[in-house]
This record gives sequence, C-alpha cells and structure tokens, in this order.
Amino acid sequence: MSAAGVNRPESSAEGFGRALRDGLRSEPRGVAPKYFYDRQGSALFDRICELPEYYPTRTEFAILRQHAAEMAECIGPQAELIEFGAGSLQKIRLLLGALQRPARFVPVDISAEHLHAESQRLAAEHPGLLVLPLAGDFSADLALPPPAPGSARRVGFFPGSSIGNFAPADALLFLRRCAGWLAGGGLLVGVDLVKQPALLHAAYNDSLGVTAAFNLNLLARANRELGADFDLSAFHHHAFYEPQHQRIEMHLVSAREQSAQVHGERFDFAEGQTLHTENSYKYTVAGFQALARTAGLLPQAVWTDPQRLFSVHWLGAPGA
Ligand code: AVJ
Repeated sequence: MSAAGVNRPESSAEGFGRALRDGLRSEPRGVAPKYFYDRQGSALFDRICELPEYYPTRTEFAILRQHAAEMAECIGPQAELIEFGAGSLQKIRLLLGALQRPARFVPVDISAEHLHAESQRLAAEHPGLLVLPLAGDFSADLALPPPAPGSARRVGFFPGSSIGNFAPADALLFLRRCAGWLAGGGLLVGVDLVKQPALLHAAYNDSLGVTAAFNLNLLARANRELGADFDLSAFHHHAFYEPQHQRIEMHLVSAREQSAQVHGERFDFAEGQTLHTENSYKYTVAGFQALARTAGLLPQAVWTDPQRLFSVHWLGAPGA
C-alpha cells in the first residue's frame, strides 16, 4: 500500500533497513507507512479491517456492493483493471461480478508473497479472468505491462483510502501519474472523509489493540529482518487526529530513556520521544474533487454512505 522499485520493492530488507536508519537519523524521526506491510503486518491490517471501530472497510464495501452496477457502467466493457495496493483482493470481487468482460486484472502490491497467494486464489475462483500480479511500489515509478490484448481502456482501482497515506502534494503527484497511466479510461478511488474526531480516534485506537500491534510490528519487523534489538514493551502506540492537516497521525513513543541498535548503529531515545509511522489524511468530497481536477482528472461521479463516513469517486482520465 504505499512508496519504490518494481519487482524489487523497497519493501525488501535492504530497502527497509536503509529507510529505517535514515528515518531514525532525521529530526523529527519518521518512517514511511509502506514498511508496515511485511507478512505479519499485512495479516494485522486484515484484522484491523474487521474491527468494529474501523468503519472504513465495511463502509466502503457497502458502497461498492450497493453501487457496483453504476460503477461498472462508468468503467465500461473490456477494461483492464489495475488495482493499487491490492492487499487481500476482497474489494475487487465486488466489482468483478458487475463488470462486462474485463480484459485483465493487474493487482499491484508491495507485499509480494501475500499478493501472489491471493492472486492465485482469485484466479481459481474466476477461471475466465486473466490475473497478472505485479509486486511493486506504486508510489514510485511503476512499470506497468503493455496494455492487455483486446482491452478497450485502462482503469485504476484504488480502494481503502490508501491515498490518505500520501501528503496532499504527493497525492496530487500520484493522481497526475494516474492521469497518464489511465488516459482514455479512469480511476475509481476510495477516500475517507473528514468527520467527528471521536469516530476517527476510535478507528485508530481499537479496544483489542490490533492497531497498536500493527504499529509496533514495524519494530518487530526490524528485529526480525535487520537484527535490531528494539524492546517492544518499551514503546507505545499513539494515534490522534490533527485537525489542522485533517489527518490521523500514528507514532511509536518511547516509554523511557533507552537505546536500540539497527545494523550496528545505536539510536538513543529520550522518554516520550517519538517515531512518526503514519499519516492518514481525510478529505471532504469537494476538497478531493478539487485535488483530482488539479491533477488533470475529471470528477464524474461520487458515492457515499448515508452517514457520509466514506466516499468512492469515479474520475475520468482524458485520452491522449
Ligand atoms: C490502509 C492507509 C487506508 O489509514 O486507515 C489502518 C492504514 N493504519 N489503521 C488507514 C491504517 C492504521 C489505513 N490505510
């Protein structure tokens, strides 16, 4: 879900180690959320999606289920679908039933192992469907395969509000790249909406502590893959809504003065010092549409749930 290098994702131990050391050397300390998604992290994220407090997944599901036919009409027949940050391939299943003769499905994800397993399952369930998984980082320069034979247009599918992990300026760059990749087609994108902070707070501070485990898995991953020695019991999950930037911030907070080593380099933490692990930006419908227009995409339809918790946008990509 997230940022580098096709078929050799920065998700590799080498890329992660470099990013973590760079992030620990910088001030304030931070590391990109794409590094959450190793095997364990992807499994924890799947559990987050089922939490009662985590409204985005079930709300987006309901929107997709309810409006699949209208979405399929926007997408049109014989489209080649590219899903960015495909994860467990649950959401595409809702669209597949409504689509007319999809030419091919290309799920892109940084978590290669998870992606290949899930792609095989999907292909087995849909014998007529061509599935071409692409392990890579869509926030970097993704090398998409040449258009599928017999495909009428290319359509992007970016559910889950993963676009919220980008700062707005980077979301703009990503949408611009989409306008190029998808020229003549369009993008169907899920976007979490600005809402009452208490609901946002609960969604990132679940009572079972799954989100905390997901956040802390970053350090666990460093211990597993990089031979780091973070004491997981001495870091706390901290997630809060920051209204100025309309974003949830997640941090790992050092519970005490301590030090840890990564690849032989020592990093000292003061009590309360944080490592910033994620931003999750929220948008208004109008705010997101304005961003899309600036990127050269045309907002042509938008669906929300009755409580306006979440939105799904159809953005046309003008042809070359
Ligand atoms: C996958 C980026 C959409 O921001 O809600 C869930 C990730 N982080 N709980 C989100 C996440 C903590 C999720 N996205």
